[in-house]
Amino acid sequence: MKIKQLLLAVAPFKYVIKGFDYLKDPYYVDVQKLNRKETSKSPVRTEIINYLLSGKGDKTCYLEIGVRNPEKNFNHIKASEKYSVDPGVEFKENPVDFKMTSDAFFEKLSANEILNNNIKFDVIFIDGLHLADQVDRDIINALQYIKDDGFIVLHDCNPPTEFHARERYGYYFTPANGFWNGTTWKAFLKWRFNPTVYSCCVDTDWGVGILSKTVNIGESITPVNPFFEFTEFDQNRKAYMNLISFDKLKEIVG
Ligand SMILES: C[S@@+](CC[C@H](N)C(=O)[O-])C[C@H]1O[C@@H](n2cnc3c(N)ncnc32)[C@H](O)[C@@H]1O
Repeated sequence: MKIKQLLLAVAPFKYVIKGFDYLKDPYYVDVQKLNRKETSKSPVRTEIINYLLSGKGDKTCYLEIGVRNPEKNFNHIKASEKYSVDPGVEFKENPVDFKMTSDAFFEKLSANEILNNNIKFDVIFIDGLHLADQVDRDIINALQYIKDDGFIVLHDCNPPTEFHARERYGYYFTPANGFWNGTTWKAFLKWRFNPTVYSCCVDTDWGVGILSKTVNIGESITPVNPFFEFTEFDQNRKAYMNLISFDKLKEIVG
């Protein structure tokens, strides 16, 4: 023990010892397992969105908020009319229709400066800034432009740990490594309390949340977890988020 104390006083040894302590820590090891578990789940968001669109006939209208590299999802979405919004924070090329934030997009849309403010989408995919107040605003705006039988889909609703649910996107020195779900779960949970929408969360790809005005994919719940504490969410996530499998979703929607 004395030797360890002495070595800790010397910078290079300190980094090695602290590094080993960090990598061997049981909590760190558990989070690595959860990272692997989540990334091995299927299907991914694209299949779920395409499934929801496939029930809407030949003429479908899709909006994606937050696109990054369109090869990862947007380009694979099967809809006859598609629009994309992204201010280009994470992907320099940013090949989207509307190079702006979602707030600016909805403001311009409502002022009839872009598209047509009578437009209604079959699916709106919210995957922009993953902070609860922004996601909540995106949901409020999306509800105005979604068809009555359409679906609002949200990525990253089911963070495995508090590290995935951190507020700071760019801080990677946590057991979640580069994975980030932000605080989207809080906005989704807030909408789970709202009896004017039905909701569920498909337990795959970091939680694919779905909201609908008319399709009963899950009844709202009585408000819980008033301080949006992660531990309480973690212990009750199945009920709070109405976590279901993709097969169950198909059974309900189909
Ligand atoms: C997680 S990525 C999107 C991934 C993509 N939807 C997919 O499925 O592969 C988040 C994107 O949101 C964008 N973004 C950041 N802030 C935004 C905002 N306020 N409004 C819209 N998009 C935003 C970022 O530039 C980034 O490209």
